[in-house]
Amino acid sequence: MQTEATLQAIRYQRGVLSILDQLKLPDETVYISINTADDAWKAIHTMSIRGAPIIAVCGVLSVAVELHNSKSKFDSISSVTQFVTDQLNYLVTARPTAVNMTDAAKTIINFLTPLHIKQKNLTIYIDELLDFMEQFLQRDLIGNRLIGQYGAATICRNNSNKKKLNILTHCNTGSLATVGFGTALGVVRQLAANNALQIVYFTETRPYNQGSRLTAYELVHDRIPHTMICDSMAGLLMRTQPIHAVVVGADRITANGDTANKIGTYQLAVLAKHHQIPFYVAAPTTSIDLTKRSGDEIIIEHRPSSEMTTIKGINLAPEGVQVWNPAFDITPASLITGIITEHGVFQPDELEEKLLGLQQSLTS
Ligand code: MRU
Repeated sequence: MQTEATLQAIRYQRGVLSILDQLKLPDETVYISINTADDAWKAIHTMSIRGAPIIAVCGVLSVAVELHNSKSKFDSISSVTQFVTDQLNYLVTARPTAVNMTDAAKTIINFLTPLHIKQKNLTIYIDELLDFMEQFLQRDLIGNRLIGQYGAATICRNNSNKKKLNILTHCNTGSLATVGFGTALGVVRQLAANNALQIVYFTETRPYNQGSRLTAYELVHDRIPHTMICDSMAGLLMRTQPIHAVVVGADRITANGDTANKIGTYQLAVLAKHHQIPFYVAAPTTSIDLTKRSGDEIIIEHRPSSEMTTIKGINLAPEGVQVWNPAFDITPASLITGIITEHGVFQPDELEEKLLGLQQSLTS
């Protein structure tokens, strides 16, 4: 039987970082050592680790590990500042659509700029930086719990017939995509913990099967009642079964509430609208990008065709076939019922105002 530890996407202690290789799941549980930002860049780019929040945590901790283990090569505070800034900016380029790594890089660079001026002792400067970078672990854990609680409470409140709920989700947004409980899957976990979940349906999530490989792994592990469907079955499911809500994650939410998430999310939102099913996006506020006005400004990552045409080296299509493989799509705000964050559930059209208010209250 799998143990609790197998669901830890990331293992960290100062100077040592390893990640669960998600490309090997569900067959093998193998941890890979990450010693440098370059190791993390490759792991993120090849999707050994994936999911917007954990990409950022892995990136940040890789810089912390590299900095800690090469302390002796730095002779000035400026050289540390330059090193950390360069590595963070490099990590941002590993995958373009999820905003969380960009947000983490900005947060750390904003932290080190005044510290760089104030702090005169190199050893203390490095320690303060390491402490700050390590906080990303805890922040994600706490945020996940709150997202789960707000999401479960909102969905239950809107369930007028008080029967147990059937939820549909997409991709993997659980412990493998975050440090802890998950975002959309965290809401499902919370509903299950509250004994309010009848069943969670989840898509296999073609072409890369984050649903059948990863979400299935988590749900079997946690013994949460579930049923997997092919992506193409969602319409019939909504037409024939009571589905009380669709809950998905996000890679980037723009100021107007448009949301980039795993390819296939948009069609679920259109179907949900047609069937009058509430459609929720669950994401930490680090997935919100107020520098982008709408989803039209988001860069959509295109993945290699082999991820669509082969599985474990077996051809699913004839050699030479031409394919289109965008990894994400944009769900317009008009199709989204609510955005579940660690600070509460917001309507897409109030998101910007609420977030600016939160940022102001944190800085004053
Ligand atoms: O390509 P992936 O597997 O990184 O895509 C993941 C998703 O789209 C998730 O839904 C999103 O990152 C949120 S994970 C909490």
